[in-house]
Amino acid sequence: MKILVTGGAGFIGSHVVELLIQCGHETVIVDNFYTGKKDAVPPQVHIIEMDINSPQMEGVFASEKPDVVIHLAAQVDVGISIQNPVYDAEQNILGTIRLLNYCQKYNVQKVIFSSSCAVYGETTDCSITELFPIKPLSFYGLSKYTSERYIQLFNNLNQVPFTILRYANVYGPRQTSIGEGGVISIFFEKILNGETPFVYGSGEQTRDFVYVKDIAMANVLAINKGTNGIFNIGCNTKTSVNGLLKMMTSLATVHITPIAKPARDGDIQHSRLDNTKAATILGWKPSYELLTGLSDTFNYYKEINEGK
Ligand SMILES: NC(=O)c1ccc[n+]([C@@H]2O[C@H](COP(=O)([O-])OP(=O)(O)OC[C@H]3O[C@@H](n4cnc5c(N)ncnc54)[C@H](O)[C@@H]3O)[C@@H](O)[C@H]2O)c1
Repeated sequence: MKILVTGGAGFIGSHVVELLIQCGHETVIVDNFYTGKKDAVPPQVHIIEMDINSPQMEGVFASEKPDVVIHLAAQVDVGISIQNPVYDAEQNILGTIRLLNYCQKYNVQKVIFSSSCAVYGETTDCSITELFPIKPLSFYGLSKYTSERYIQLFNNLNQVPFTILRYANVYGPRQTSIGEGGVISIFFEKILNGETPFVYGSGEQTRDFVYVKDIAMANVLAINKGTNGIFNIGCNTKTSVNGLLKMMTSLATVHITPIAKPARDGDIQHSRLDNTKAATILGWKPSYELLTGLSDTFNYYKEINEGK
């Protein structure tokens, strides 16, 4: 199959692309390198440097004729979405609508969309299914949800099949310290540089951390399964920020008392995703325990730090 990956040079995208290549799929990337990096991409992959909002994108669909589009390109920073909702909407909503138009015109068989647990907004500390009420707390969460609705309506009106994946907090090698799940990369960078990390709020807020290679697998499984479905992709586990820092300092064999900062606007207290639907329909299950994924991630940052 020929797969077009938007945002394929980014943190998650580069892992998706690696797995697609391993599975024998012909893969093309479109990325504007806003946060993505060329050296994150396997050398044999064709990279087109372009913004998804560019009028030239139609030419990419016309010449590449992808069977499937995995759409990851996005403005991923919750803080930026709150400061600049227009920019966030242009990148995340208009960018998605433009792609959907081309998918329809060039008979793409499926769009796989990277959504987020940010669409749910505040939840309880219980795990939530895909039926939990949608009430985003940030414009980022709203732009992801609005894109989901466009994708669904596009399918109803124009028969563009889709799979929507709502990720929990993703972490792993190549993550930068911006974006949604950046807390692990921020903490490791600080720990390795001998700096003290900040903890916002009480530190008792909980997250469901999912390893990036498991996210890549969910995208690859969605190529052939889960058509016109929405799936939570998380581990159904809760880890507090304080608990996370403890695991990380113990891996790094350091003792650190973090600097306490006030809670931030748009930050969710608890987030934990029930993954039963993904297990049943996609056949997806996380294969990395948090400690295993953290250890791999720590080794990655350590190597980078030693190479500086
Ligand atoms: N990291 C997480 O924890 C998390 C959680 C939920 C959902 N997501 C979603 O997963 C996707 C990937 O996120 P990530 O963490 O890898 O972020 P990232 O910033 O590393 O990747 C985004 C990629 O898209 C590219 N890009 C951005 N705007 C573009 C545009 N207009 N045209 C072309 N390319 C553009 C960037 O250069 C980058 O390579 C995003 O859609 C994000 O919303 C991420």
